[in-house]
Amino acid sequence: MTRFLYLSDTHWGAGASGYTMQPKSDTQLPALITALRSWIEAHGPVDFVLHGGDMIHETSAAGITAASQHFDLSCPVHLCLGNHDLTTEDAVEQWLHTAPQFFGAAPQLDRAASSDYAITTDDCMIHVIPNQYGPTPFRWESTQDPHFLASQIEALEARITAHPDTTHLLQTHSPVHAIEPGQSGFAEPFHQPPAEFTATVTRLVEKYGIACVLGAHSHINMNKKLDGANYITVSSFVETPFEFKLFEVGGGALTMQTHNLWQHVDFAAEYNWHSTFVQGRACDRAFERLL
Ligand SMILES: [Fe+2]
Repeated sequence: MTRFLYLSDTHWGAGASGYTMQPKSDTQLPALITALRSWIEAHGPVDFVLHGGDMIHETSAAGITAASQHFDLSCPVHLCLGNHDLTTEDAVEQWLHTAPQFFGAAPQLDRAASSDYAITTDDCMIHVIPNQYGPTPFRWESTQDPHFLASQIEALEARITAHPDTTHLLQTHSPVHAIEPGQSGFAEPFHQPPAEFTATVTRLVEKYGIACVLGAHSHINMNKKLDGANYITVSSFVETPFEFKLFEVGGGALTMQTHNLWQHVDFAAEYNWHSTFVQGRACDRAFERLL
């Protein structure tokens, strides 16, 4: 059985700025990680923690060093770079140099540190493929045009093809599907990705039977079931109620549960009860399926 936690969008260093869906306590990240450590002690063990991106708010050596120090847990922590992690030309080099432990430098991973890598366990492979945002690879300036480089897709397909008998999960930062009006109550789909990005990923999912696609970026919990796959996103770990996912893979099943740390921190935190759709309905927060 593989057990891992999935959290995202910690935006360390954002200050007063930044997109939020619920009140944020990003300056309390150290306290939240302490609470997460206690949760792992009580409910673990877990094999690793996967961070879905936007670990920091802007790329800087100081920010990466701080994130590296904060996310020093009793288990490995892996990162899928998000747009806010990629705000300088040399962002990937900075991350790999300062925090290689997040990117495949650990022995259980299948290659040396790289922005794109796979986490391999006895039960599954999680392919971490950060999507692109604009014309310059691995650089976010202002555009939000999620896509993959041809070389990223090629490497992913080669890796999946070489391991046909395991369960494959795909991790990227931008959501592949919109939040439906049935969840949000809005008139239109929310955070609608470009149709081409949705088509690219759903084609890969169908072709290779990928069981689950993990996303982030929207700061909203989502679980969309399509063609036998679950497309999920997670709310921001530093926004009330400080949620994360527990994934369990093995014994012929894949399960996801959503947990929170609100009752496990001692700082005051507000919640906007007019936006409970961010946490999602029961069907957005958990699933259990056979493999
Ligand atoms: Fe993002």
